[in-house]
Amino acid sequence: MGNPPFFFTFSCFVFLLGSLLSLATDTITPATLIGDGEKLVSSSQIFELGFFSPGKSKYKYLGIWYKQVPDTVVWVANRNSPIVDSNAVLTIGNNGNLVLLNQTDGIIWSSNLSREVKNPVAQLLDTGNLVLREKFSSNTSEGSYLWQSFDCPSDTLLIGMKMGWDLKTGRERYLTSWRTADDPSPGNFTFRLEIRVLPHLCIYNGSVKLSCTGPWNGLAFGADPTNTSYLFRPIVEQKEDEIIYRYESYSSRILMMLKINPSGDVQRLIWHEMSTGWQVFFTAPNNFCQLYGYCGANSVCSVDDTANCECLKGFKLKLQNNQTWPRECVRSHSSDCITRERFIKFDDIKLPYLVDVSLNESMNLKECEAECLKNCTCRAYANSKVTGGGSGCLMWFGDLIDIRKITGYNNGQPIYVRVPDSEPGDKKLLWIFVILVLPVALLPGFFIFCRWRRKHKEKETTMESSQDLLKFDIYMSVATRTNEPSEGDGDAKGTRRDSVLPCFSLASVSAATENFSMQCKLGEGGFGPVYKGKLLNGQEVAVKRLSSQSGQGLKEFKNEMMLIAKLQHRNLVRLMGCCVEQGEKILIYEYMPNKSLNFFLFDPSRTHLLGWQTRVKIIEGIAQGLLYLHQYSRLRIIHRDLKASNILLDSDMNPKISDFGMARMFCGDELQGNTKRVVGTYGYMSPEYALDGLFSVKSDVFSFGVLLLETLTSKRNTGVYDIESFNLLGHAWNLWKDNRAYELLSPALQHEASYQMLNRYITVALLCVQEKAADRPTMSKVVSMITNEHATLPYPKQSAFSYARRGEKISFLPSSRVSEACSVNGVTLSLISPR
Ligand SMILES: *[C@@H]1O[C@H](CO)[C@@H](O)[C@H](O)[C@H]1NC(C)=O
Ligand SMILES: *[C@@H]1O[C@H](CO)[C@@H](O)[C@H](O)[C@H]1NC(C)=O
Ligand SMILES: *[C@@H]1O[C@H](CO)[C@@H](O)[C@H](O)[C@H]1NC(C)=O
Ligand SMILES: *[C@@H]1O[C@H](CO)[C@@H](O)[C@H](O)[C@H]1NC(C)=O
Ligand SMILES: *[C@@H]1O[C@H](CO)[C@@H](O)[C@H](O)[C@H]1NC(C)=O
Ligand SMILES: *[C@@H]1O[C@H](CO)[C@@H](O)[C@H](O)[C@H]1NC(C)=O
Ligand SMILES: *[C@@H]1O[C@H](CO)[C@@H](O)[C@H](O)[C@H]1NC(C)=O
Ligand SMILES: *[C@@H]1O[C@H](CO)[C@@H](O)[C@H](O)[C@H]1NC(C)=O
Ligand SMILES: *[C@@H]1O[C@H](CO)[C@@H](O)[C@H](O)[C@H]1NC(C)=O
Repeated sequence: MGNPPFFFTFSCFVFLLGSLLSLATDTITPATLIGDGEKLVSSSQIFELGFFSPGKSKYKYLGIWYKQVPDTVVWVANRNSPIVDSNAVLTIGNNGNLVLLNQTDGIIWSSNLSREVKNPVAQLLDTGNLVLREKFSSNTSEGSYLWQSFDCPSDTLLIGMKMGWDLKTGRERYLTSWRTADDPSPGNFTFRLEIRVLPHLCIYNGSVKLSCTGPWNGLAFGADPTNTSYLFRPIVEQKEDEIIYRYESYSSRILMMLKINPSGDVQRLIWHEMSTGWQVFFTAPNNFCQLYGYCGANSVCSVDDTANCECLKGFKLKLQNNQTWPRECVRSHSSDCITRERFIKFDDIKLPYLVDVSLNESMNLKECEAECLKNCTCRAYANSKVTGGGSGCLMWFGDLIDIRKITGYNNGQPIYVRVPDSEPGDKKLLWIFVILVLPVALLPGFFIFCRWRRKHKEKETTMESSQDLLKFDIYMSVATRTNEPSEGDGDAKGTRRDSVLPCFSLASVSAATENFSMQCKLGEGGFGPVYKGKLLNGQEVAVKRLSSQSGQGLKEFKNEMMLIAKLQHRNLVRLMGCCVEQGEKILIYEYMPNKSLNFFLFDPSRTHLLGWQTRVKIIEGIAQGLLYLHQYSRLRIIHRDLKASNILLDSDMNPKISDFGMARMFCGDELQGNTKRVVGTYGYMSPEYALDGLFSVKSDVFSFGVLLLETLTSKRNTGVYDIESFNLLGHAWNLWKDNRAYELLSPALQHEASYQMLNRYITVALLCVQEKAADRPTMSKVVSMITNEHATLPYPKQSAFSYARRGEKISFLPSSRVSEACSVNGVTLSLISPR
């Protein structure tokens, strides 16, 4: 300070220079101000710091964002104190703190250091970290920062940031969602590293746990379904003074961030030079099973097409006040250690939440089993680490909570659950009674009934009054024969039968499904559970119990069903009857023994059962069924939820589309029963629907294109197959344009398939998934293209595989826009089932 005049001019000069070059600088000194419109830019032009107004907000905030990708704010300083005018400045205050000042030098926000700093300088680093340090310190290691923005995370975890616990100060670093997309103030959702014996990552809604990963197993948070090891590496570090989570990317060409949205979804977003915006690599929770404890205690949640809850072996569903929800499974045998018990191994489930557990890291699996068996309250055990072939002993006491099936990649952390050695065998007698005694007893009455029926048949014009489902078989065999429809003439052959949709008594439907028992449950569709029903002659039917508290009147509902029942095509599942009684709405369908297409396609143990010819047959069948819905049926149905799990397979592997017409029946608020917090199967949704809610036959064509690719390749659209594209469509496009479409097939199929045919199918699929609906062919074009070998095919435009442009949300809450669309044109609703 020996030469004040010089110092003054010097700092003036620096100040002027600083203002002039503010676009190029990455540092702030006490003499520099960053005002509205000015920016700090990190040295490699990756991040920028400045003032911004999110969305429609009229307030200003100081934030850091990616320079290359628009609208991606990763950090906000003054989340709680918005700036109301354009006069705020960022500078370094007298005590060396980084401060945001208003017009009258009032402090809006401060880095809030308690200790004095001599020569402070703040710098925006290429990692997105804004750091405050001593100017002349030669020590540039991370620990030497006086303050850093990485220590105060907003809603985004960047590479290099840490989440977790400082054990010395007890301080926790975690992500907090924005309140809304326009308001960065802290919202209700947080994403934290929770230490409960072992570290987990959990999303909280206020203080309520919304979703958790499995415990850290040395490699990953158990049950991470995606093998992400080629993109990034998750890291948990447990040191004396801290336990933290962070991650590293393997590719410097890829930008990556983990973000918690205002709606509570945590997404991993990826951007690389070739993409037009952020790609959603991963969203959690993205199905019901990922909601914490969704199925209740001692129950496994599996995502087939939707969430399915199933009691663990040895447990049964407890009915509370005759309600099945909230669920809880209780031991089916009397008490611990009384019956003989053993452990069964589950390879494919996420470890239960660590509610009441013990951990001994020095025990091996064998000692663990012995220890668990000794203690009557021990319900399960597992290795705590998977590294080095597995080690450590985790034992669970009491109820097992938050268990879900993992599909696909699993990192090999089996759990052993205690079950009774054998189930009591008292059910057999009952069955003998049902199978042998009951039919004989009913026979006379049955014949009388049949004669009565025949007499009355002529009088039936509309809905029949309640019939007995158990005795439906005779009627049905007549009906199917007289009504076998031929392709493309749905209305032409209206026989007397097809104006009649039989209606069954609830009692008989209940009897056919063993009182809607869990054993009879086939699955949980978007509209409610589906059960297998058995008629007296052993014939099976599928019983769909619609889970809606309907706003639609019964009469309208029946009329709607009558219309749907008239849609008959060999590639549509037949609606055989219904039951509307005591507030229940139940639909009876023909039973499809081979389950659904996804049951075969995506299961590594079954996919080989689908040969090339079968796949061709399935594709052609789906195309015909869809063509009928779009073009030839009286109703012009848009399916809206076409996906592999909605394609059922009969005993000859003929495909039949199911759930068509459901959108017609379920307009309006009835959806909400099921879509409270559902995240879409966006893999099948056309961009105009996913982004703008627009729906037309062309959106079905898009879904068909996806289905076609999935059927040929046995790969899910939503998987990641190469580094350049983030789903199957992109992958297929890349290979196809290099003339390598062949590589999409498994080696076994490559031998079977004809090259021309495969190429034609892939081309048709790519035509179907073009971004613009107008470019996509109609179903009749599609059918002619896939059946006519000599058709010349147009050259597809690049597929619409970047739905998640600009990181847009793909999570659908029942928004007003959806219900609006529904009432406008009557048939615009899709049910989005989680997967
Ligand atoms: C600036 O901030 C101070 C203290 O927070 C406050 O009293 C003052 O009213 C603010 N001035 C303006 C113009 O907002
Ligand atoms: C600043 O720090 C002090 C103590 O270190 C604390 O009491 C105060 O709440 C902090 N202020 C802000 C705005 O964080
Ligand atoms: C730099 O600072 C850190 C933290 O204060 C310290 O641990 C480290 O030893 C210092 N390095 C040097 C070279 O002084
Ligand atoms: C946050 O939670 C409070 C109650 O805990 C609730 O009133 C408020 O609506 C919630 N806000 C959002 C955006 O969900
Ligand atoms: C979060 O909790 C609030 C009540 O505190 C509830 O209204 C809201 O639906 C919850 N949100 C989610 C996504 O669970
Ligand atoms: C996960 O992927 C990596 C790279 O693709 C591979 O090396 C590794 O074996 C895979 N791990 C498993 C368990 O499949
Ligand atoms: C449950 O239902 C049965 C028969 O339907 C009835 O007798 C019983 O009282 C019900 N229990 C409760 C708690 O509502
Ligand atoms: C952990 O297991 C080892 C080996 O069985 C045993 O010696 C040790 O006492 C156990 N530790 C605890 C805390 O139970
Ligand atoms: C079984 O384990 C629980 C929980 O660790 C413990 O409290 C209890 O004493 C154990 N019982 C026996 C018999 O070892």
